[in-house]
Amino acid sequence: MKVRITIFGVVIIALVAAIFTFNSRNQRNQSTTTTSTQNRSSKPVKSANSGKTLVVYFSRREAASSIYKDKPLPIGNTKRIAGMIAKKTGGTEYEIIPAKSYPRDFKTTSEVAQRELDENARPKIKNPLPDVSGYNTVFVGAPVWWGDYPMVVHTFLDAVDLNGKNIVPFATSEGSGLGNFDSVLSSQYPNAKVLEGHFERGKDVADRRSSVESNVNRWLNGLGY
Ligand SMILES: Cc1cc2nc3c(=O)[nH]c(=O)nc-3n(C[C@H](O)[C@H](O)[C@H](O)COP(=O)(O)O)c2cc1C
Repeated sequence: MKVRITIFGVVIIALVAAIFTFNSRNQRNQSTTTTSTQNRSSKPVKSANSGKTLVVYFSRREAASSIYKDKPLPIGNTKRIAGMIAKKTGGTEYEIIPAKSYPRDFKTTSEVAQRELDENARPKIKNPLPDVSGYNTVFVGAPVWWGDYPMVVHTFLDAVDLNGKNIVPFATSEGSGLGNFDSVLSSQYPNAKVLEGHFERGKDVADRRSSVESNVNRWLNGLGY
């Protein structure tokens, strides 16, 4: 038990160090839950709530989602947010399921994730991709992993064309806000309109669900939903 606690403590310290490094490197102003809308290019795309909405997300399924709890949560943090978005927008959910599951324990998952990031890997997706052609607005959400979308989300982004649509990033993380999600989407799809994104702290999703849902609904109201 003592050994498990020690290992868990070491992992938390490593993660906090990674978050700190990422935050200082990016010098992003992420003191509020939503991102700034400045410097976004205006593309001729219909408003978010006109037409169909797709809510794409990845969320760790295997075990503990909250890094503060050494026990599994029944539903991942980002999956919970995706559900809230789908409920409020009437959108369709699509979960990105990796062909190869991640390990159950946090430490090994973080090692695998770090390797995938270093190698700029594109892990395979298990389930068929959605036909995105009929959607006007696509939300793309995930936990922040080492400041970035998990690489399996990059696999998804490489495989579908979201140009000409509204795209909305959302994230759960423990200190990195939306990570680099905005810039990933803008550079991947230069002819899409990247709308104001939103993040919630993973720990809050697990512990303060109703206030998190109010935050999410307020953000979506601001997008016109
Ligand atoms: C491999 C890995 C890397 C992570 N990297 C970061 C990070 O860079 N910044 C951060 O704030 N949180 C980081 N986290 C914490 C998760 O983003 C956070 O706990 C999230 O809410 C988990 O969401 P999920 O339950 O949907 O998988 C990381 C977690 C894992 C497993």
